Amino acid sequence: MHRSALIPTLALIFCIHAASISQTSKKGISPKLAVTSKGKGSLEFKVDSVLKLMTLEEKIGQLNLLTSDLDQTGASMRPQYKEDIRKGKVGAIFNAYGVDYVRKLQKMAVEETRLKIPLLFGYDVIHGHKTIFPNPLAESCSWDLEAMEKSARIAAIEAASMGLDWTFAPMVDIARDPRWGRVMEGAGEDTYLGCLIAKARVTGFQGAKLSDPLSIMACAKHYAAYGAAQGGRDYNTVDISERSLRETYLPPFKAAADAGVATFMTSFNELNGIPATANKYLLDQILRKEWGYKGFVVTDYTAIMELLFHGYAADSVEAVKKSILAGADMDMQASMYDQRLPALVKKGAVPVSVIDESVRRVLLKKFELGLFANPYVRMDAEREKQNVFTTVNLTASREIAAKSMVLLKNDHNTLPLKLTAQKIALVGPLADAGRDMMGAWSAAGEWEKNVSLLKGMKGSFTSSQIEYKKGCEINDTVRSGFAEALTACSNSDVVVCALGEGAWQSGEAASRSDIRLPGVQEAFLAEVKKLGKPVVVVLFNGRPLDLTDVLPNADAILEAWYPGTMAGWAVSDVLAGVVNPSGKLTISFPRNVGQIPVYYNMKNTGRPFDANNKYSSKYLDVRNDPLFTFGFGLSYSTFLYSGPKLSTKSLGYKDTLRVTFTVKNTSTRDGEEIAQMYVQDMAGSVTRPVNELKGFQKVFIKAGETKTLVFKLTANDLRFYNEDMKFVAEKGLFTVKVGTCSDVTQSDEFELR
Ligand code: BGC
Repeated sequence: MHRSALIPTLALIFCIHAASISQTSKKGISPKLAVTSKGKGSLEFKVDSVLKLMTLEEKIGQLNLLTSDLDQTGASMRPQYKEDIRKGKVGAIFNAYGVDYVRKLQKMAVEETRLKIPLLFGYDVIHGHKTIFPNPLAESCSWDLEAMEKSARIAAIEAASMGLDWTFAPMVDIARDPRWGRVMEGAGEDTYLGCLIAKARVTGFQGAKLSDPLSIMACAKHYAAYGAAQGGRDYNTVDISERSLRETYLPPFKAAADAGVATFMTSFNELNGIPATANKYLLDQILRKEWGYKGFVVTDYTAIMELLFHGYAADSVEAVKKSILAGADMDMQASMYDQRLPALVKKGAVPVSVIDESVRRVLLKKFELGLFANPYVRMDAEREKQNVFTTVNLTASREIAAKSMVLLKNDHNTLPLKLTAQKIALVGPLADAGRDMMGAWSAAGEWEKNVSLLKGMKGSFTSSQIEYKKGCEINDTVRSGFAEALTACSNSDVVVCALGEGAWQSGEAASRSDIRLPGVQEAFLAEVKKLGKPVVVVLFNGRPLDLTDVLPNADAILEAWYPGTMAGWAVSDVLAGVVNPSGKLTISFPRNVGQIPVYYNMKNTGRPFDANNKYSSKYLDVRNDPLFTFGFGLSYSTFLYSGPKLSTKSLGYKDTLRVTFTVKNTSTRDGEEIAQMYVQDMAGSVTRPVNELKGFQKVFIKAGETKTLVFKLTANDLRFYNEDMKFVAEKGLFTVKVGTCSDVTQSDEFELR
């Protein structure tokens, strides 16, 4: 449209705008922006009416996301970002929160720019905002979808109350390589479970509707296949088949899209030669065309510039052109759209219609969030005071943390510990750690508020004497602290040894080639064990560790992950038996790094493992199976499975198969069990994994009680990408297996006809 044609409309808008300011400044200003003479109601219409008023520079501004100076995850920072806001060159800001602060920035946008379009405020609200919840991998081990939705909801409430509209979460990358530090941010190795968790988290963050002042937009990241980085090295190349992409890595993104996730974030990696940020196949073909996705796509941090390092663009102009044409709507922090797009559009290399489409997507979300109705909708100082660190939030964090822990070993019922008087030696570098209890991606968390294990145990084991000695640091070679810690251990009835990784040792840019306990922790534990006392190891870490040398030196091992703000209370709840552990691993723990990749749903190969056959698929020096497999986790109760019984041995395409089995709590303690069902497709037009999770139920079973569980299966659940890449279920024989983990033997067979 010609500029002069806009002038009357703009004049009208400014009149309305000025009037609305004088009438009610608190209510906000921009709703009227959208009221054109036609006065139509739909958001799309409103978006278009705003778009019509915009200059090219203003449009491009909406596609520019910059960090504020509060904190940032990379080296690059644009010092003049405030000037850019005033000039209408910024559509969104991240790393700014707190009502006072964001209000000031918002005021610049809605009072000083020509069109007064409100900013969006984003942040990495990954596992809690102020009240920190267990890291996402930990939470996934609860298999408790309601709990995960709740923790995302609480995180959203805290974040929204502090001025945020948008979180860069959930990370829905399937991750099977424990060397990759970012496994701590996801939901583990399984696609089926990953889809359900993606949905739960999106629903939790976004609430019932985005316009709610306590809802924030979620962001499915990192699209796509970031978790498949070669060698587990962060940002590394990804080269996988179309089949693995579609079968393993994409479904959680599709599940997030189906759950209404407002935004997607591109990943840093290349996928089969094309960096994800400029990958038209991913962004346009799959996301927009196949899935019909309507939200907007933001790049990851400075990812557009990184196309140069990938060797996918000769210069920044080409990088920008390739990204926008591929479908990356918003530029995070590279400031490249801002600098290069105007010229590209002017010379016709990027059609203005492409820019318009991206701007539409961004504006639509701003409308849906209620920002045009009230740009300050999430900036209420009262809410900020009331909604953060509430007792309800802290209690939820404690409960979810306890549910997320996985009991890996418990010989001679070493756990739970007695509550009667005894001497407990609490040793190890994480026994009184504060900061490390939150793990990575907890930037707004206040680590001073974290409850250390020492504090939690002192509060929970009030009749016992607790002697704390550190013994060693997390990650150095100094052994001078061993002696006094060992003395404390020899004077005790039981030793609790808190070991693990520092918070900085997992998360982004935290890949490790050796995933054993760092420093001299293993050596320290070996010394402790020699004293002959019962030893309970509590692990704080973000990824599966190689525990091969820890296992023989511990009577009990509790994988506590990074439990969050209430860490010490939650771990003590489990140690004391107030909470009976029920978590199960969502990622396999290898026996050593050389075994990687190791995950439960591998293929059988043409020469399956056979201990007596040299020429079978195996290593000479380590077994094939992981040390702890997917789905594994003990309880203080014991459970006995019987069944399964199948309702039919011959399943039609329209029928439902009922798989019935019983689980008996054979102990004297009530407990929860996560009963799992796996399926193996015995022969297909392409080979299938030895096991695929197809259902689970988390059930509470009283001591001595038997519960009958029924799972349903239809042909739909048996689909996969066949030799023609069609997503179908093929006729033939299937085995159904039920049990307490992925290494199950109780099974029966049926035929799909
Ligand atoms: C990470 C993203 C994160 C972004 C913004 C990047 O380095 O890969 O996951 O959302 O920074 O902080």
